[in-house]
Amino acid sequence: MSELAILGGPKTRTEPYPAWPVWDQRDIDAVTEVIKSGRWGGYPYPGPKTTELAKKFAELQGGGYAVPMANGTVTMEVALRASNIGWGDEVIVPAYTFQATASAPMSAGAIPVIVDIDPNTYCLDVKAATRAITPKTKAIIPVHLGSNMADMDAIMGLAEKHNLVVIEDCAHAHGAKWRGMGAGTIGHFGSFSLQSSKTLTSGEGGILLCRTPELAALAASIIDCGRPHALGGGADDPNGLSMQGGNFRLSELQATLALVGIERFPAQAKQREEMASYMDEALSEIPGVRVLRRDERHTTRSFYRYIFAIDPQKFGVEHDVMCAVLGAEGVPCWVGYEAMHNYELFQPQKSKLAVPNAFPENFDFKNMHLPEATRACERESIWLDESIFRAGTKGVDDAVAAIKKIQKNAQELNNATETFRIKRK
Ligand SMILES: Cc1ncc(COP(=O)(O)O)c(C=O)c1O
Repeated sequence: MSELAILGGPKTRTEPYPAWPVWDQRDIDAVTEVIKSGRWGGYPYPGPKTTELAKKFAELQGGGYAVPMANGTVTMEVALRASNIGWGDEVIVPAYTFQATASAPMSAGAIPVIVDIDPNTYCLDVKAATRAITPKTKAIIPVHLGSNMADMDAIMGLAEKHNLVVIEDCAHAHGAKWRGMGAGTIGHFGSFSLQSSKTLTSGEGGILLCRTPELAALAASIIDCGRPHALGGGADDPNGLSMQGGNFRLSELQATLALVGIERFPAQAKQREEMASYMDEALSEIPGVRVLRRDERHTTRSFYRYIFAIDPQKFGVEHDVMCAVLGAEGVPCWVGYEAMHNYELFQPQKSKLAVPNAFPENFDFKNMHLPEATRACERESIWLDESIFRAGTKGVDDAVAAIKKIQKNAQELNNATETFRIKRK
């Protein structure tokens, strides 16, 4: 019999990794309290739980003025709109990210300009961003991907030189720190998602950290149907409308769940960080595996996903095959996002969206040359689930044992490879 579970052998990990989100009686009590209060929604904005969440979240990240809202996509659109960035302006985004990082600028009327990534961190390559700057460039959205952070020193230097607004996409970076500064507090804005898979969640939700109270008041207006908001929170006049906005408020039911999540967050983050260091050591001994380099300035790592790279030739198996086989071994993993220029949804001929159709020359994806992002997406990257770390050393040992088992049985696997290849499209 084969040693590999996918070929009928025994699974490396039989016990499921711990589920996410974590919940207990505290969540039930918190939601019950809000239900009984009768104040379920987000109007008038912000409600008491939302106000408390804003305060506690800014404390968690160590700065900024927090505006909780509907998700971690609209956060970026609002940041752009609050900065008066819109139609025809260019916003630099990395090629390796979730589509939201590029679609948010389009919702604000701006053009996402896709640049390549740094092969060491898989985050935005600042040299590529520098080359992409034109007189129309108004903002840059670095993404702190998986568990890494973009080089915020270089990005802030570039932004200062060219007068750009920096919006950190921190959907994966709750609790992360760069030279002791919280992710999302370094740029002008930090955009966080509280969607259900994220390490701090309210089911759905988002938080925009703003550098100044003035920006926070503007952001609050935009998400509260344009009602004018005072500095420090609260609508000046619940019936007055000062600007075009929409309803992107976070509800009190959601805010209360995130507040309980914040109580658990520090212990979970500490465990993930300790276990990830243990994982780094174990993986770095496997031929053909590359642990992404840790930048010393990234002083606190946070782990939404643990991304490592393989060299398929040296490892012996291709990354999409490896992912399918790891899954069968009981280890939750993923090949990661597609490179942004392969996303069909932005192609002018395939969408009726205003921005791609108005500026088709910026969406000529076939002619974009993004070698690092392409290599990461198509050949190298493996994304492991954070639940592996919540299962302690045994969780990591099992994942590493499964990876080694795959390598040992590469020959047998490659004979059957086409069966297991993950098809993205
Ligand atoms: C990198 C990145 N940015 C933005 C988002 C968008 O967050 P949301 O799903 O809350 O809109 C995600 C989400 O899942 C993400 O992974």
